[in-house]
Amino acid sequence: MSYTNILTEVHGKVGLVTLNRPKQLNALSDALIDELGTALAAFDADDTIGCMVLTGNDKAFAAGADIGAMSQWGFVDVYRNDYITRNWETIRRVRKPIIAAVRGFALGGGCELAMMCDMIFAADTARFGQPEVKLGVLPGAGGTQRLPRAVGKAKAMDMCLTARMIDASEAERAGLVARVVPADRCVAEALEAAATISSYSLPTVLMIKESINRAFESPLNEGLLFERRLFHATFATSDQKEGMSAFLEKRLPSFTNR
Ligand code: CAA
Repeated sequence: MSYTNILTEVHGKVGLVTLNRPKQLNALSDALIDELGTALAAFDADDTIGCMVLTGNDKAFAAGADIGAMSQWGFVDVYRNDYITRNWETIRRVRKPIIAAVRGFALGGGCELAMMCDMIFAADTARFGQPEVKLGVLPGAGGTQRLPRAVGKAKAMDMCLTARMIDASEAERAGLVARVVPADRCVAEALEAAATISSYSLPTVLMIKESINRAFESPLNEGLLFERRLFHATFATSDQKEGMSAFLEKRLPSFTNR
């Protein structure tokens, strides 16, 4: 499959997607999001892939949805085309973990795209922000929902209402990012973490992702029940037998994803 707005590579069992509209700071056009959804869905369906990394370039992960494309759209255009929902939501259906490796700007839809991933590794150059208010709109790809869940109400209000950008260390303190790394190591660290994840039992990894996401969508009792049932379900897998036997036999496990 060849793409115009993204690049894809396979590193062992990791699928790497690089946003590739550098002249527009990776502005997230509909065409780009269509391609991104296709690429992530293809890696998700590929049995040889265990995890994905999504990145941009040194200057920008993505500077937001494509303002040039959006500027003349009317309500009926975006409503009829189901803008955002139609293609951005494809990313939500990906079941394997996705790590966002963010260098430079992650603004507006770029910050929202990073938050749609399962964790963010931020380069020390990363800047996160939701500047939509300056354009007369609000975050439209989950920013007002995922940001407060990640950083709390106070900082989410500050970022969305004032359009203030935060740097990588503030983002880490606030809980938005999992790790801060030197910019030239950002993609490498994400690939290494993704390789580690890919070395584990895929069904178990999928269950962990599903269960953690459940924490944001259900009360504690329901979330705990969901987790407990999935935990019980792992005892029906060969990989649980293999993982525990390998530990007791002091050897590395050999998972078969069954
Ligand atoms: N859409 C379209 N084009 C964009 C863009 C965007 N979101 N962000 C940057 N570009 C383009 C610029 O227009 C410029 O193009 P030209 O060279 O043709 O003029 C090019 O990328 C380089 O940008 P700048 O010259 O502005 O670079 P800079 O270093 O001076 O500034 C920046 C960088 C602070 C990120 C600035 O580009 C900026 O503020 N960008 C817009 C950020 C923004 O408002 N994002 C929110 C978009 S709305 C949204 O995302 C809605 C949603 O929730 C889904």
